[in-house]
Amino acid sequence: MRTFLFMVLCAVLSGASSDSQQTDIETLMDNVVVLKVPVFMGSMVHVPLTCGGAFQNEAVFWKKNGQAFDPPLMGNQVQVLVEEMKGGNYTCHLSPSGEYLNHTMILIQLNPDNRTVILENGEGGHIHCSAPNYKGSFHCRWRRTQRRSDASVVLVKAERYMEDIPCELDANGSGVECQNTLCSYKEEQHRISLTVYIRSHARLEAYTKSFYLREIVRPAKLPNLHIIDGNVFKWDYPESWEKPCTFFGLQFEIKLVHSGHSCNSENQIMVITNYTVSIQPKKYIFCVRAQDKFTRGPWSHWSQCT
Ligand SMILES: *[C@@H]1O[C@H](CO)[C@@H](O)[C@H](O)[C@H]1NC(C)=O
Ligand SMILES: *[C@@H]1O[C@H](CO)[C@@H](O)[C@H](O)[C@H]1NC(C)=O
Ligand SMILES: *[C@@H]1O[C@H](CO)[C@@H](O)[C@H](O)[C@H]1NC(C)=O
Ligand SMILES: *[C@@H]1O[C@H](CO)[C@@H](O)[C@H](O)[C@H]1NC(C)=O
Ligand SMILES: *[C@@H]1O[C@H](CO)[C@@H](O)[C@H](O)[C@H]1NC(C)=O
Repeated sequence: MRTFLFMVLCAVLSGASSDSQQTDIETLMDNVVVLKVPVFMGSMVHVPLTCGGAFQNEAVFWKKNGQAFDPPLMGNQVQVLVEEMKGGNYTCHLSPSGEYLNHTMILIQLNPDNRTVILENGEGGHIHCSAPNYKGSFHCRWRRTQRRSDASVVLVKAERYMEDIPCELDANGSGVECQNTLCSYKEEQHRISLTVYIRSHARLEAYTKSFYLREIVRPAKLPNLHIIDGNVFKWDYPESWEKPCTFFGLQFEIKLVHSGHSCNSENQIMVITNYTVSIQPKKYIFCVRAQDKFTRGPWSHWSQCT
């Protein structure tokens, strides 16, 4: 009997220690706790929850995703057992059917977090960033996979060398607009790092992208493309491009494609280096796009004239 008890005790203790060894419990932000669990382990984690100091003297009842526990879970400070991916929204109330007091969202992140399923992996990664100039504002976007279209962004963090960059989430949850205050003329020393924390039910994934602004500056589509004298094309610098244009020069790529084709089509008549078209085919489309002459960053989208 004594041996049996000892074995049970050992099993309990080793269970408890492997619990704390392999799973990190971290607070991501107010009311959000993240369990980092190893892949392929049937994890069981005890998580302490507190309703809050303000409700110290209240009889507190807990619910998970709106459902009461059976048997009821009561007390300002409690422990809940979270199995595998079964996190959720734990709320505390004044009575079983009473007033809502506070909540803690428990999310599960795999460790390592390298089998992501929530965002599409497109050309260049999960997150795509772009800026119209060097003034410091940039936009990043992503796309949820079809099966995780319900996923919602929990937090977006952007920083450059310990300095936080403020960002605002787009209303549709598929992008952020960030504003980094900096001087256009200064050489960038450090990369911007952007992390998107997104969840689908209780599963949390973190996606990080890091870049220099100069790598993502893409001139806007060239405006006011028109033809004069029958064969000379003219256009303007984008309104959003840096001034003076002599300092922030653009270079252009120009091509002609057959009528009815898009400027992205490979089916081109010719690539030309000046703005005068000397051939006289029946019909063609004139295409032009721009990139920063010095950094040779991303090309603008094509502008076209038929
Ligand atoms: C609600 O819970 C959070 C922790 O999840 C705690 O920081 C906060 O103080 C609580 N609010 C109150 C009013 O006690
Ligand atoms: C959790 O539940 C509380 C109370 O209903 C609600 O205010 C909060 O937005 C919920 N959190 C999430 C992430 O669903
Ligand atoms: C994820 O990381 C683990 C441990 O570093 C590695 O064994 C596994 O191959 C990685 N999986 C993928 C899909 O990259
Ligand atoms: C989301 O909103 C942004 C800005 O309002 C827009 O540019 C983008 O196309 C939208 N994305 C989707 C997937 O609807
Ligand atoms: C423009 O380029 C074409 C060939 O690409 C050349 O024949 C023509 O002389 C050039 N025109 C000018 C004005 O430089």
